[in-house]
Amino acid sequence: MDYTKLKIPNHIAIILDGNGRWAKNLGLKRSEGHKAGYENLKKLCVHILKTGVKYLSVYAFSTENFKRSEEEVGYLMNLIAKKFKSDAKYFMENNIKVVFSGIRDNLRKDVLESMDYITNLTKNNKKGTFNVCLNYGGHLEITDMTKKIAKLVKENKLDIDNINEDIVNKNLYQDLPPIDLLIRTSGEQRVSNFMLWQLSYAEFYFPTVHFPDFNEEEFDKSLIEYTKRDRRFGGINYDKEID
Ligand code: IPE
Ligand code: IPE
Ligand code: MG
Repeated sequence: MDYTKLKIPNHIAIILDGNGRWAKNLGLKRSEGHKAGYENLKKLCVHILKTGVKYLSVYAFSTENFKRSEEEVGYLMNLIAKKFKSDAKYFMENNIKVVFSGIRDNLRKDVLESMDYITNLTKNNKKGTFNVCLNYGGHLEITDMTKKIAKLVKENKLDIDNINEDIVNKNLYQDLPPIDLLIRTSGEQRVSNFMLWQLSYAEFYFPTVHFPDFNEEEFDKSLIEYTKRDRRFGGINYDKEID
């Protein structure tokens, strides 16, 4: 693939969906789907950042996902605790900065320790930022941002009249640029409470493959599609208009 011929988004977000259905189709347990999903994500993340994308955000576990069975939540938490520790070296070797978005409440101690370990280890890496949304909810992020700003105003550190979009962005979980392309695998066409502020002008792409099968080739198709999109941001590209 000649990436110089493609438009490369600065920030891509992926809703990692369909691990369960992928496993079911193969007669496997849902947990096998999560394992395959993680292994795919690990490789794909390096590929995506190599194409020139600078920020990759992924939806790994929503605040709503705690509604799942104790067994499934437990498996996912074990996977996260284990892999973000054992693969920290891999992310270092690939010069990737790993950060997390979400709340720490309700997360196990070993999960938090793993998250802190990899965040701290990779903090100076420069190839790109891998933002893992874990115990994350979009409404909650906006609510938490509102509380942080209200506190700054109350403590006389910020004047109400100086609140602007930049201040809002800086008080979210991570200070990230807007999302250019949102991908949700599995064919589901909904946002499920993901990065509502950051998605304002994103292009949406919904491949039907389940996440464990969303490999480099499938990802490259999303770049081809993105290159064809006419992004207007409310304006009009007059030179493309035919009278
Ligand atoms: C995505 O796959 C992973 C998480 C939400 C943690 P799912 O587990 O949602 O898979 P499906 O949608 O049931 O196939
Ligand atoms: C969204 O997927 C959350 C993650 C991918 C982590 P879900 O599978 O939980 O979303 P719904 O329930 O189908 O909307
Ligand atoms: Mg799902």
